[in-house]
Amino acid sequence: MCGIVGYIGHRDAFPIIIKGLQRLEYRGYDSAGIALFDGTSINLAKTKGKVEDLKNKAKNISQEGKIGIGHTRWATHGIPNDVNSHPHYSNSGDLVIIHNGIIENYESIKKELIKRGYTFTSDTDTEVLVNLIEEVKKTEDVKLGQAVQIALNQVVGAYAIAVFDRNKPDEIVVAKLGSPLAIGIGENEFFIASDASPFIEFTNNAVYLEDEEMAIVRLGKEIKLRKIKNDAVAYPRIMELQMNLEEIEKGGYDHFMLKEIYEQPRAIKDTYRGRLLAEQGLIRMAGIDQNLEKFMNANRIIIVACGTSWHAGLVAEYIFEDLARIPVEVEYASEFRYRNPVITDKDVLIAISQSGETADTLAAIKLAKEKGAFVFGVCNVVGSSIARESHAGAYTHAGPEIGVASTKAFTTQITVLTLLALKLAKEKGTFSQTQFHEFLTELETIPSKVEKALESNPLIEIISDVYKESTNCLYLGRGYNFPVALEGALKLKEISYIHAEGYPAAEMKHGPIALIDDQMPVFVIATKKGHYEKVVSNIQEIKSRKGKIIAIVTEGDEQVTELADHVIEVPETLESLTPLLTTIPLQLLSYHIAVMRGCNVDQPRNLAKSVTVE
Ligand code: F6R
Repeated sequence: MCGIVGYIGHRDAFPIIIKGLQRLEYRGYDSAGIALFDGTSINLAKTKGKVEDLKNKAKNISQEGKIGIGHTRWATHGIPNDVNSHPHYSNSGDLVIIHNGIIENYESIKKELIKRGYTFTSDTDTEVLVNLIEEVKKTEDVKLGQAVQIALNQVVGAYAIAVFDRNKPDEIVVAKLGSPLAIGIGENEFFIASDASPFIEFTNNAVYLEDEEMAIVRLGKEIKLRKIKNDAVAYPRIMELQMNLEEIEKGGYDHFMLKEIYEQPRAIKDTYRGRLLAEQGLIRMAGIDQNLEKFMNANRIIIVACGTSWHAGLVAEYIFEDLARIPVEVEYASEFRYRNPVITDKDVLIAISQSGETADTLAAIKLAKEKGAFVFGVCNVVGSSIARESHAGAYTHAGPEIGVASTKAFTTQITVLTLLALKLAKEKGTFSQTQFHEFLTELETIPSKVEKALESNPLIEIISDVYKESTNCLYLGRGYNFPVALEGALKLKEISYIHAEGYPAAEMKHGPIALIDDQMPVFVIATKKGHYEKVVSNIQEIKSRKGKIIAIVTEGDEQVTELADHVIEVPETLESLTPLLTTIPLQLLSYHIAVMRGCNVDQPRNLAKSVTVE
C-alpha cells in the first residue's frame, strides 16, 4: 500500500516520477505528491486524488530538477486530503520524506517532539518520522544517513522510505522494513521505487533491499547497504529483471483487468511451461524436487493467504486431499498469526500471495518458521518479501498483475498448486501412472479451454446489462466450485460495490434462502462433473422462490439450461480442473457490471493491490 518513487541522475526527474507514480497507482490512489530539487530549492506539489490531479497541481511549481521523490497514497493515518499527502517536510524545510508503511509508536514520538518545540501540520505518522530524523540530525550532529538510522532504531512499525536533504543534494537515503523497496541502477543514475515498473524502460538491473536495510543512493558512487540495527555492511545483490514494458501497459484494452482476464490462457501456459512434461510423464519443479522429503513426511499442509489467494488455497485443499490424500487446513493469514496455532516441524506451510508483500501472510510465515515448519511460497512477484522469506517455493508466471482485482493470479496459483498436488500424488502412489498421464494431458488443454470460455464475452455483456442495477447477489457452488463461488462474489463486490455473498450451494437452506425473491440474482456453478444432480436440486429450490438463476454449465447441458434464466457454457474438463474454467465467466460478469455502473474497475474505492499493512 502506497507507492514510492525517486530519481537521481542526469535526466529530468519530473516525467520519470509522474510516470512511475502512475504505474504504482495500483498500490493506492487516495492522494499523490512530488518534491523536486532544482539546484537551489525544493519544489513540492501534493493533492488529494490521483496522479492525474497531481499533474494539474504541479503546473504551479517549477518542474526543473534532476533529483526528486514522489508518492501515491493509500491512507492509514489521517484522512485523504492535501495536507496528509506525501511528501512531508521537516520543520526546518530542509528534509523531505516519502513513506510506505505505518509507524506504530508515532504518537509517543510526536508528544516528545512537541515538547521540544516541533509543530505538525498533518495527522500523519510520516511527518513525525521526518521530524524525528531532523531532531536526531541536529542534536547528535550527524549526517542524514546516520540520522535516518538512529531515528529508525527508535520507531516501531513498517516502512519503505526515501529522504532527501536540500543541504546534501547529491544523495537520497532509503530504508526498508516490511514494505518493498527496489533501487534501479542505470548509467550514472538511480531509480527508487516500490517495484521495478517505474524504471523498467531505463534499466534491467535492480537491488531489492532486505528488511532492516538502508542505503545512501549517491550520484557517482556504488550502492552501499547497511543494516539499520547494527550498522553492519550488507552487500547489494544486483538482480537482472525479466519484466518488459509491454507487460505493464494496457495493450489496447480499456482496462488492465480486462487485459489480465484475457491473458489467462497465456499465463496458465507460462506457469506450467517447463514444469509439466506430459510426454515424459513428469512434473519438474525445483522447489519441490529439492524438498520432496518435507512434503512426503508432512503430517499436514497448512495453507495461509488472504483474499483471492485464500480462495485459491481453498481450491488447493480439495485438490491435495482428493489427489494426494494429505490433510490440509486453509487459514486466513490474519487469523492464523494471532491465534497461537499448534505448529510443529512436521508441518508444511504453503503461503500464497500474488504480490508477495501481504503483511499478514508474511507474518504468518515468520511465525510458522519460528515453530519449525517448512515454508513453501507461491508468489507471482519475483524477489518479493514472501518469496525471499520462504524456505522454497514456486513462482506463478502470470506476469505483472496491475488491476487491483486479482484475476490471472488466481488461475495461475491454482495451476501451480495443481502441479504440486499431482507431483505428490504420484510420489505417494495415490495416483496410478495412467491417471497421472491423463491428468497432465488434460491440464495441457486448459489454456485452449479458457480461450473457449472467453468466447462467451458478448453473451456475458448482455447478461451483465440485465443485472447491473442489482443491490444483492448470491453465488453458489459445491465441491471444487465452492471457492469459485466465493471468488465470484468477492470480484463483484470489490469492483462494482454490489453486495454479494458466496455459499456452498447446500448451505443455502440453512439461512440465505430467506433472501431469495424475484429481485435476487443467484449465480450458480452447475458443471456436469461435481455433484451435478445435487446442484440441480438447489436450483429448483431457488426457482420455486422466484430467484433469478444465472448458471455456469458444461457445454451441451440440457437440464440446467431448461431451468435457468441464463446459462453460460464452459468446456468440459476433469472435475478438479473446473475452477480454472468456471471462474472466467464470473470475472467477466463482474468486469462488465462494474463498467456499466461507471466504476473504476482497475482502482476500486478504498482498495490497494499490495496490502503491506495488517
Ligand atoms: C481481490 C484481491 C485481494 C488479494 C489479497 C491478497 O481481488 O486482489 O483479495 O487477493 O489482498 O493479496 P496477495 O495475493 O498479493 O497476497
